[in-house]
Amino acid sequence: MINTGFAKAKAYCSSANLGAGFDVVGVALDAFFDEVEIEVREGNSVKLELAGMDVSAPNTASAAVKFFLQRIGRKASVVIRLKKGVPTGLGLGSSGASAAAASYAINEVFGRPLSPVELVDIAAKSEGAAAAGTAHADNVAASLLGGFAFITSTDPFKAFSLKPRGFPGFYIAIPPKGPMDKKTKAARQVLPNEVSLRQSIVEKAALLSMINAILTEDYISLAKALSLETPVELARYQAGLIPCYSEIKAGLLKGGALGVCISGAGPSVLAYGISPDFKRAIEEVYDGLGIKVDVRRTGIAPPTSSL
Ligand code: HSE
Repeated sequence: MINTGFAKAKAYCSSANLGAGFDVVGVALDAFFDEVEIEVREGNSVKLELAGMDVSAPNTASAAVKFFLQRIGRKASVVIRLKKGVPTGLGLGSSGASAAAASYAINEVFGRPLSPVELVDIAAKSEGAAAAGTAHADNVAASLLGGFAFITSTDPFKAFSLKPRGFPGFYIAIPPKGPMDKKTKAARQVLPNEVSLRQSIVEKAALLSMINAILTEDYISLAKALSLETPVELARYQAGLIPCYSEIKAGLLKGGALGVCISGAGPSVLAYGISPDFKRAIEEVYDGLGIKVDVRRTGIAPPTSSL
């Protein structure tokens, strides 16, 4: 029985949805990562420190640790030291990366009672409790499992990931953060409750195409699948949450993109393109619209791991 212990973990950022995969698909990206140190002693408290300061606001790292302890039926005094590398509020799975790193590290301290997929479930619940208002597992599944992650069931929770070896990488266009607090929660409140049967067929086909494209390493088809216009993207664009998205997408496709989608709840945009000057082409599209942008090339990230 462990009463004290220490572990460190590193979890990468992610891009959720990939067009048709709202709440069920995410991809881990190696552009940014969070690091977590967990110290466990006897007691019954969970405390988060960020840059040496105590954080009392609800946060996914503390929530993940609490859900973990509840799940394994244990009490402990836990100090989480979080080093944020993933910028927040930009659609890059920042809250998910913190939850992934914290759940991974606490599981290490207790001798791995939970499987990686069970940790995804815990971390998804923490997204619901502390960030998005409803549990969604796409970001945390990508961060914890690495590669392209797919949620196949929510009750009981099931997920898997695919890690194509030869994928050349995406570009992420990161505009300045909006003023909105709890951006993902707000971006979920503008969504329609229902989609048509026709739309559901088109989206299912896009998801199947995406899986087939990853398995066959056909990245042009992958890019095409993620570019599908969805009611989720449209609702967010129309609510003004991703300024100029329609112009951005059209400009990027004209500038050499083979696929473009909103990264998670935005405002960042994920694009796939292989021309040597694609980064510059993205910058030009944003420049032309008067929007500041940080464009990064990013590979597919590995799973959350110990440090
Ligand atoms: N699937 C979630 C959403 C991801 O789009 O609301 C949030 O990062």
